[in-house]
Amino acid sequence: MPTGPQIILTLKVLVTAVTALLAVALWAIATGRKKLHGRLNTAFFVLTLTTVVAFEALLRFGVNVKEAFTPEQRQALLVHLYFAVPSALLLLVMLPSGLRKYKRLHIACGAVFVVVWIGTFVTGVFFLPHAG
Ligand code: HEM
Repeated sequence: MPTGPQIILTLKVLVTAVTALLAVALWAIATGRKKLHGRLNTAFFVLTLTTVVAFEALLRFGVNVKEAFTPEQRQALLVHLYFAVPSALLLLVMLPSGLRKYKRLHIACGAVFVVVWIGTFVTGVFFLPHAG
């Protein structure tokens, strides 16, 4: 089983990688590359949802949370999940609304999504202490 610090470091790498993907996808739509935006964000959708589900499963069934993490790490992880789980739920609206071209819904949810995602990124990368 992975240790607490290993889990947190892996999480940071994954959050950074998918955020880079999202940033390129937003650049793509801002410069009119709709197909590229759709493809990159489809990959973003799969990777992000897989990470959130795998991470939740690991914390619930895979490790003893009280032994693996310090109280500060547990608190920081909880705050991170308050952003990550709503982000994941919003993605369930973002992908279908993009594919079906419900443009107003897609852009309105996209505005909320970007704010919640910034919270996910900041709490996942900067505020998670990864040293045991
Ligand atoms: C976060 C801010 C986002 C903005 C401002 C945005 C904006 C847009 C816009 C303007 C379109 C073109 C819609 C049309 O012409 O009907 C589009 C298409 C699309 N978007 Fe987004 N989007 C965002 C995020 C996302 C996310 C997170 C996903 C997936 C999880 C996504 C998936 C798609 C898909 C699949 C399409 C269709 C592409 C195609 O027609 O080939 N978008 N988006």
